Amino acid sequence: MIRAIHHFPQGFLWGTATSSHQVEGNNTNNDWWAWEQEAGRIHHGQRSGLACDWWGGRWREDLDRAADDGQSAHRLSIEWSRVEPSPAVWDEDALDQYRQIIRGALDRGLMPMVTLHHFTNPAWVAEQGGWLNPEIVPRFERYVRKVVSSLEDLVGLWVTINEPNVYVVFSFLTGHFPPGEKSMGGTVSAARNMVRAHAAAYHAIHEIQSGALVGLAHHYRGMAPHRAKNPLDRWAARIRSKTFNDLFPRAFTDGRFRFLSRREFIPQAARTQDFIGLNYYSTERVVFDPRKPAELFGRSFYRDDADLSPTGFVANEPTGMWAALRWARKSKLPIYITENGIEDDADRIRPRYLAKHVRQVWRAANFNWQVKGYFHWSLIDNFEWERGWTQRWGLCALDPTTQERKRRPSADLYREICNANGISSEMVARYAPEVLEEMFPGPGSPELKAENS
Ligand code: GAL
Repeated sequence: MIRAIHHFPQGFLWGTATSSHQVEGNNTNNDWWAWEQEAGRIHHGQRSGLACDWWGGRWREDLDRAADDGQSAHRLSIEWSRVEPSPAVWDEDALDQYRQIIRGALDRGLMPMVTLHHFTNPAWVAEQGGWLNPEIVPRFERYVRKVVSSLEDLVGLWVTINEPNVYVVFSFLTGHFPPGEKSMGGTVSAARNMVRAHAAAYHAIHEIQSGALVGLAHHYRGMAPHRAKNPLDRWAARIRSKTFNDLFPRAFTDGRFRFLSRREFIPQAARTQDFIGLNYYSTERVVFDPRKPAELFGRSFYRDDADLSPTGFVANEPTGMWAALRWARKSKLPIYITENGIEDDADRIRPRYLAKHVRQVWRAANFNWQVKGYFHWSLIDNFEWERGWTQRWGLCALDPTTQERKRRPSADLYREICNANGISSEMVARYAPEVLEEMFPGPGSPELKAENS
């Protein structure tokens, strides 16, 4: 067996990511809580309930675990509905609680990366039209100003909006998220407002805190033509990828908003990212389908022999991480992997998923690309949106009825990676032996023979 270690640069951040509604519990004053009470919205009628009870104080034990496991950063989000329960009314106690959590992270040696919007809106915002109402832009900016002025002494890394592309598609096109709309017009309007809101937040944060680093967490979905040489499959994959993957980052680069035939110049959005936050999970195949104009003439699925998560939600496609990094690198900005992970209650696939994705990140770091950190989704099982508790994404398992936590083997593997600031053949041999030869090919491997011939 080949013995080797892939080292990461000094100071590389290793962390996990969470979001307020998914871990805090009792977020009764936002649009998701209301949505969860409606029949048929969440799998098996499940609800977020107490979630991981972070608002009740259990963030302490979970951040203890992260720190004990050698992590050096944590990505969390602020719940707008707690900070501003009604228009321009600020809950200073809630802000104080966030100070305690963030201070708690710092005291444990975890660098905080703070997200300001992660899918949820205060009930009053939703009642006033949510992201379809252009008034959302000054409202969001006012909230961001309040949070940043209160926490600027503790936080230097800000994510304005989590996955605006996923948010607009799920909330306004497929209807899986509140407000459950299914309209292309609504999707475009919400996207324009998100571009404006991010731009306003970016400038506001820099006004308050000139040294802050501000970006977004962008969901990059790999999309490959099903038949690699078929021009129609290639066209469908390209147009879907450009629409989904490029819309927001492009607007935040040159201010040009282009959604299919809609074109608009939003100058204040140009150059509004100090880093690229990349959420990468999987890559799908796209086949041209003339019967699906609303889906941009494409249908997508995972390849037949894909290594699938238990519910079939994620295919383990690590080379897509490499493609995502190549795509992000074009921006010439520093890159953080702000999310990456797999749902896997039994922890059967996660060790190899983790090892292989970390290796792709290492390849980029090894070429001196400016990859600064990796945040695994997630530290602990949490409320998984419309999929409720049916998917388990945590390094640690949670029983939401008893609040009991239990480490999965992947938590041990990740601890070793964080502590070594790298991944070794020896770790892979112990946690994911089935991919050892592929990740660390021995002298007899066809790959090496071809290179030496
Ligand atoms: C992301 C989202 C997270 C989490 C994850 C796993 O799209 O930002 O909140 O739900 O997916 O599904």
